[in-house]
Amino acid sequence: MKLLVNGTKHEVDAPPDMPLLWVLRDLMHLTGTKFGCGIAQCGACTVHVDGAPRRSCVTPVSTVEGKSVTTIEGLSKDGTHPVQRAWAELDVVQCGYCQSGQIMAAVALLRAKPNPSDADIDAAMTGNLCRCGTYQRIRNAVHRAAELTEG
Ligand code: FES
Ligand code: FES
Repeated sequence: MKLLVNGTKHEVDAPPDMPLLWVLRDLMHLTGTKFGCGIAQCGACTVHVDGAPRRSCVTPVSTVEGKSVTTIEGLSKDGTHPVQRAWAELDVVQCGYCQSGQIMAAVALLRAKPNPSDADIDAAMTGNLCRCGTYQRIRNAVHRAAELTEG
């Protein structure tokens, strides 16, 4: 099956119902995307499909054939995407496990709403769980990323 991941075409040998998360991590070795719950409840596995956030743990790989998939590795080559810069500046990360999913959710939010309110952020990100409780720093970093994006 042919996949377009982070702007590059890949040929993968996977059954059609294999979760996209497994294809990314186990077959393509893109391990930035994390497995949390496996049942669409935590957001750790969030990637973009045609620019929209998607829980890759419950996405059969066959459903993204012909679409553009972006993972955390595809945001920037060197961690300089505005959302990544804001995350580093505000020291958001604690254990880090949830954070690639948080960042992918934040990027999608900022694309849809370049200047989100706290309520917008809570509404868009509430399904991305963080056991370390970094929610306040995440909110601040989304605002900072909005500033950095405006430039
Ligand atoms: S691992 Fe996909 S939502 Fe939790
Ligand atoms: S930083 Fe540890 S789970 Fe979010």
